[in-house]
Amino acid sequence: MGYPYRHASETTTILSRYMGEPEGRPLSGWLERGGYESLRTALDLEPEQITTIVKESGLRGRGGAGFPTGLKWSFMPQQPAGPHYLCANADESEPGAFKDREIMRWTPHLLIEGCLIAARAIRAQHIYVYVRGEYFPVTRILNEAVVEAYEAGYIGEDILGSGWSCDLTVHLGAGAYIAGEETGLMSSLMGGRAEPWMKPPFPAQRGVFGAPTTVNNVETLASVPGIVANGAAWYTQWGTEKSPGTKLWCCSGHLSKPGNYELELGLPLRDVLYDVCGGPPEGRRVKAVLPGGSSTAFLTDDELDCATTYEGLQEAGSALGTASPIVLDESASIVPAMRRIAQFYAHESCGQCVQCREGTAWITKILRRIEEGEGEPRDIDTLYDLCEQLTGRTICVLADSVVFPLRSSLDKFRGEYEALMRRSSAVAT
Ligand SMILES: Cc1cc2nc3c(=O)[nH]c(=O)nc-3n(C[C@H](O)[C@H](O)[C@H](O)COP(=O)(O)O)c2cc1C
Ligand code: SF4
Repeated sequence: MGYPYRHASETTTILSRYMGEPEGRPLSGWLERGGYESLRTALDLEPEQITTIVKESGLRGRGGAGFPTGLKWSFMPQQPAGPHYLCANADESEPGAFKDREIMRWTPHLLIEGCLIAARAIRAQHIYVYVRGEYFPVTRILNEAVVEAYEAGYIGEDILGSGWSCDLTVHLGAGAYIAGEETGLMSSLMGGRAEPWMKPPFPAQRGVFGAPTTVNNVETLASVPGIVANGAAWYTQWGTEKSPGTKLWCCSGHLSKPGNYELELGLPLRDVLYDVCGGPPEGRRVKAVLPGGSSTAFLTDDELDCATTYEGLQEAGSALGTASPIVLDESASIVPAMRRIAQFYAHESCGQCVQCREGTAWITKILRRIEEGEGEPRDIDTLYDLCEQLTGRTICVLADSVVFPLRSSLDKFRGEYEALMRRSSAVAT
């Protein structure tokens, strides 16, 4: 938990404003900072009014896919015949991502407040916060905050005398990356293995315990109180039309100033890496960056002048993902880095789909062979072929996740693969 927090400016610190301030963590400190005022506002609104505000704000899901949050909420049945659920996705296992942890660590009541507002909007009676299995200290902090919120009447029966009741359970996950995929999360929550299921049915049709469910990322939910308190126009003052607001960045790898930064969406990626994070140490250049975390395509130093928006990074051939750039400078080798990434996905594949189970394992094996100087020229074709086999054919997109960095590494750094192979053929002759 050693990364620093740096605020871009006073006006762009919505989520990170109280990070680094332990006084804001307990309920008393949170109330002094205006906490739960937004919930009071939401309790005076009809559920669909809350959804409209969030829709107008343009907030997009921060779990990786960037799906519009208000639209997702509007898929929930408007006249519930039975229970509805909200799941806050706090599984945060994507290599490179360390933002949800910091929200929960410093401002647990911000997440609770966001969950309650979202639950009211989707007419949920129960909220589950599914926390990554390894996040023990964060879970303790969250549990303490939940107890405080129950005692103060923010969670439970007849919340603040509104007539609306909602419970909240913190659930410590089973320690698997795939439990972060929304259907895997729900399978795990219901006591099964974290195995994703085919969609449809979508969670809003049939989710936890067979009931309509919305799954939202922690950062998404933590963005909601500010939007409800200040209005959609306040939020859209930052970012672009398609990517409004601010975003927590998790910047790691070869950077002089790695850390968590809250930034307005839309800055050039080059500015984020070089100006905000100080660039690679000792004046070296960026060789490659995975801008949105390990499941996004590599960009090179020549490609960093794109906007840090959902649309900007897509145009550049990659993705915003969880906004977790992992930077490799000129001193790094691509093949071992790519092998390490593939190894992660092979380890975390739940094994239900042959393409994913076998494909990620074979990719890892081939990359290791190349890395160890025993590759053959045809291995590159095999890797491209595996990219084809793994794309769009599986229950969830974990398989696709390894393809983005792999294919881009082959396209952009083929020479590094071939150099290792030349070494092996030189040894053989
Ligand atoms: C393999 C895999 C792992 C995922 N892990 C996470 C995660 O740890 N946290 C998260 O919020 N979303 C994760 N997601 C995305 C979720 O399935 C889901 O889209 C997200 O929680 C929706 O929230 P949002 O709309 O607020 O972004 C993952 C997706 C996949 C395919
Ligand atoms: S793609 Fe992989 S992780 Fe996803 S369901 Fe299939 S085997 Fe499991």
